[in-house]
Amino acid sequence: MYKSFYNLKRSPFELTPDPFFLFPTPRHNEALATLYHGVRGHKGFVVLTGEVGTGKTLLLRCLLQLLRQSNDVAYAYVFNNRLSPVEFLQYIASDFGLPASGRNKSEILFDLSKYVIARGSRKLTTVLVVDEAHHLSGEVLEEIRLLTNLETTQEKLLQVLLVGQPELNDKLDSAELRQLKQRIAHRSQLAPLDLNETRGYIERRLHLAGASPNGCLVFPPDTIAVVYRHSRGVPRLINTLCENALITAYARQNRSVTPEIIEGVAADLRLNLDVVAPYPREGPPAELNEIDVRRAAKTLLDLYAYLSRASRDGESPTPVTIQSQQT
Ligand SMILES: Nc1ncnc2c1ncn2[C@@H]1O[C@H](COP(=O)(O)OP(=O)(O)OP(=O)(O)O)[C@@H](O)[C@H]1O
Ligand SMILES: [Mg+2]
Repeated sequence: MYKSFYNLKRSPFELTPDPFFLFPTPRHNEALATLYHGVRGHKGFVVLTGEVGTGKTLLLRCLLQLLRQSNDVAYAYVFNNRLSPVEFLQYIASDFGLPASGRNKSEILFDLSKYVIARGSRKLTTVLVVDEAHHLSGEVLEEIRLLTNLETTQEKLLQVLLVGQPELNDKLDSAELRQLKQRIAHRSQLAPLDLNETRGYIERRLHLAGASPNGCLVFPPDTIAVVYRHSRGVPRLINTLCENALITAYARQNRSVTPEIIEGVAADLRLNLDVVAPYPREGPPAELNEIDVRRAAKTLLDLYAYLSRASRDGESPTPVTIQSQQT
């Protein structure tokens, strides 16, 4: 509704995790590289955690886009994790194209093992991707661990990516899952954006949505500071605030969004009631030291080049600057 008023070709702040809009903070870069090299290096288990709305599903979608380019990778993608162990195994078997309905647990396990081993012997990569993994029950996590016992002397045959909210870390730290925990090759974490990143994030989304350089001033710096205060740098909240603010500003025929509009939207969304400490910011996860940083940077450049090429509506976003601190 407001698009033509602000000279935009598309909505900049949609809530769907769309790789086209990826804003590559150092943490997002590192996490993506960790996931990619976990899969490509046949490392077995890789875990990504992050607070609600910080971009985990978005990163998975970027990764899957990248993996879909290679014909030697097959993956099953599970995002409904309130499943019993048998339902879970049926789900992944059917995602790999194996018969699942009406088969009992041992038949499915037999088929899955045969499939994974056959692919491994042809040097093909097989990946199980689990989003919202914090909902997995201990029983299902144990089934997954047993599946990763399929290995040669050199490498794991099934790569497993577990992605979820921080409660996943608590689950993996529990005594019952210590065997699984010992098998995790890499762990990384996403965090909310800082103020500078919030500014970059909003400007990049406006730019990708078609705004001219001046159009990015729709959100002046003092407005962005208020967005940051109410969202605490959580991308999903930034999107919600900015989308609602654009609608309000348009209704008032304002060319730019004022801090007062953001305050009003935050009050409507009751975000101003959340008087909580900022999200904890930790240093880079130690496990990242194991990554070959040069290869990671190359992967990311390939990914962003690919995303630029794949950008929809014939738009070509400007090349992304890799901001990783580890270059
Ligand atoms: N680095 C980023 N660049 C661009 N958009 C982002 C980024 N991080 C998050 N977003 C956007 O924020 C919103 C929430 O992201 P996403 O759904 O991936 O979060 P999540 O961590 O999976 O949340 P949840 O824990 O609720 O599943 C989406 O609209 C997504 O596109
Ligand atoms: Mg998600």
